[in-house]
Amino acid sequence: MADSIKIFAPATVANVACGFDIFGLAVDNPGDEVVLSKREDDQIIIQEITGDEGKLTKDPEKNTVTVPVLRYLEKLGIKQGFDVRLHKKMPLGSGLGSSSASSVAGVFAANKLLGNPMETKDLLPFSMEGERVACGAAHADNVAPALLGGFVIIRSYDPLDFVQIKTPSELYVSIVHPDIEVNTKDARIILRQEAILKKIIAQTGNVAGLVVGLMTDNYPLIGRSMTDYLIEPNRSILIPYFNEVKQTALNHGALGASISGAGPSIFAFSKGKETAEKVGVEMKKVFAKGGIETNLFVSGINQNGPRILD
Ligand code: HSE
Repeated sequence: MADSIKIFAPATVANVACGFDIFGLAVDNPGDEVVLSKREDDQIIIQEITGDEGKLTKDPEKNTVTVPVLRYLEKLGIKQGFDVRLHKKMPLGSGLGSSSASSVAGVFAANKLLGNPMETKDLLPFSMEGERVACGAAHADNVAPALLGGFVIIRSYDPLDFVQIKTPSELYVSIVHPDIEVNTKDARIILRQEAILKKIIAQTGNVAGLVVGLMTDNYPLIGRSMTDYLIEPNRSILIPYFNEVKQTALNHGALGASISGAGPSIFAFSKGKETAEKVGVEMKKVFAKGGIETNLFVSGINQNGPRILD
C-alpha cells in the first residue's frame, strides 16, 4: 500500500439560489490539492501550506484539513501519523467552498492511505468538522458535493440524511469571483432570523421546482426556480454590482443566477457551454467597469468529487 498520496478535491457552489444549507454542486475547477504521507509516529504535522498568503493556521487542531483527519482517526481508533501538505488553488472566503475542498481532500486521502476502511459517503461527518472550524457551523452543502460529486441535497441534518440527484448533461455553471473577500461567519450573522410565511411558501415551491427541473432536464423550470427570497436579498448587499451582474447574466441567456455559497462569487446556470462562457465573460465585464478584478470559471457539474493526482 502507498505511503503517500496526492488528492484533488473540487470547488463547489452551495445554496444554488433557493436551497440555503441544503443544496450544493461540484465543479471541475478550481479545487485544492492535499498531499498526505504516512509518518513512523502518530503525529499529524502540517509541513507546508501554499497559496494562502500565510493566512491559514498550521495548528492541526484548528486547520480545516487536519481536524477532519484527527476526528476520523479517533473514530477508527487508529494511531497513525501523517505529514500534510496543502496547496490552496482557490481564493479563501470566495464562496467556492474553499475550506470544504481542503477538508474533503484531507480525509479522503487518509482513508485511501489506510486502505479505505470507510466508504466515501461515511467520510461526510468528518469533513463537516472542517466547516465547523472554518466558520462555526458544520454545514454540509459544500462538503457533500466536494466529497461525492454531482448535485447533493441535504434532506436532514439531524439525523444526517442526503441524496445525490442527476443533473442535465448540458447544464453548465459560470462562476465569477470578484477580488474581494466575504467571511462566511459574517455572511451568516447578517441573515435576519424572522420567518415570513409568504416567502417561505415561495421558496419551498422553488426548492421543489429546482429538484424536479434538474432531474427531468427541464431547463426553463430550472431557470424559473432560481429565485432566492430568503438569503440573497440580505447578502447581496455585501457584493458590489450584484444586481447588475445578475441582470447581465439573464440578459445574455443564463437560466438563472445567484450568490455562490456565502459569496462574493456569483454563479449562473446556462444550457450549453457556449452560452455559459458568453454569460461568464459578460458578468466579468460588469465588475471590470466598476474596477473590480475577477476570476472566471466555467464548468459542467463535476460528477466525480475528489480524485487521485499521483
Ligand atoms: N450554506 C452556507 C452559507 C455555505 O451560505 O452560509 C457557505 O459557503
